[in-house]
Amino acid sequence: PAQNWGHGGVNSFLSFFKGYDYASVQRGLQVYKEVCAACHSLHLVAYRNLQEVGFTEEEVKAIAASVEITDGPNDEGEMFARPGLPADRFKNPFPNKQAAAFANGGKAPPDLSLIVKARAHHEDYIYGLLTGYTDAPAGFDLPSGLAYNQYFPGHAIAMAQPLYDNGITYTDGTPATAAQQAHDVTTFLAWAAEPKLEERRRVGMMVMIFLVIFAGIMYAAKRRVWANLH
Ligand code: HEM
Repeated sequence: PAQNWGHGGVNSFLSFFKGYDYASVQRGLQVYKEVCAACHSLHLVAYRNLQEVGFTEEEVKAIAASVEITDGPNDEGEMFARPGLPADRFKNPFPNKQAAAFANGGKAPPDLSLIVKARAHHEDYIYGLLTGYTDAPAGFDLPSGLAYNQYFPGHAIAMAQPLYDNGITYTDGTPATAAQQAHDVTTFLAWAAEPKLEERRRVGMMVMIFLVIFAGIMYAAKRRVWANLH
């Protein structure tokens, strides 16, 4: 079902004046860090990108430093752990896709960087997926280890229901219903997939204004150039 997004949706044609709800993006980051990051990577987003959604440089340093990144090899040829830096990409919870699939019953959790754009119905699908866990209807043959989701194609999904009412506590005091968390993490993932949305819409608007003015000037020029022709 269609939801109301502060930014109108990454694929919306008629939302030129709308930008992201940064408070929602910031809460969504909290949901991502505390829930989704256990299984999903976000490899196209670096911690420093978070400054674009209202975090200060100091906050970004602290967010990055709260994760442990495996780096190397060093001069001795060994890998080593170090605190994250703003230039690091979001940490991948698994060393590679095989390990990710092995830990999740054979299905690797997809990278979430572009998922909002990659799936049909965009934000509405992600929100539906996260809130769409129900009991399987009578007669549905649910393979063991999979969960029933009313919006996942085929319904049998390898991701267990990730969001519950008050599963996390929001630092800004917003009541953390499962629906609120789904809304916020989807807004965060929309920003991750389309961080230049606002700039794109602003430039598009300037281009339209320019074209209108330019058309007027060209019309006036045409009238003048042809004025003496009877
Ligand atoms: C798949 C989002 C948490 C494991 C997916 C998909 C999305 C998603 C959008 C793709 C569905 C599709 O292909 O259409 C999220 C979000 C989370 C979250 C936003 C946090 C709120 C988790 C957690 C786990 C997990 C905590 C592991 C315990 C998986 C797996 C799949 C998957 C295994 C593949 C499912 C399949 O293809 O059957 N997730 N996820 N996810 N997720 Fe998550």
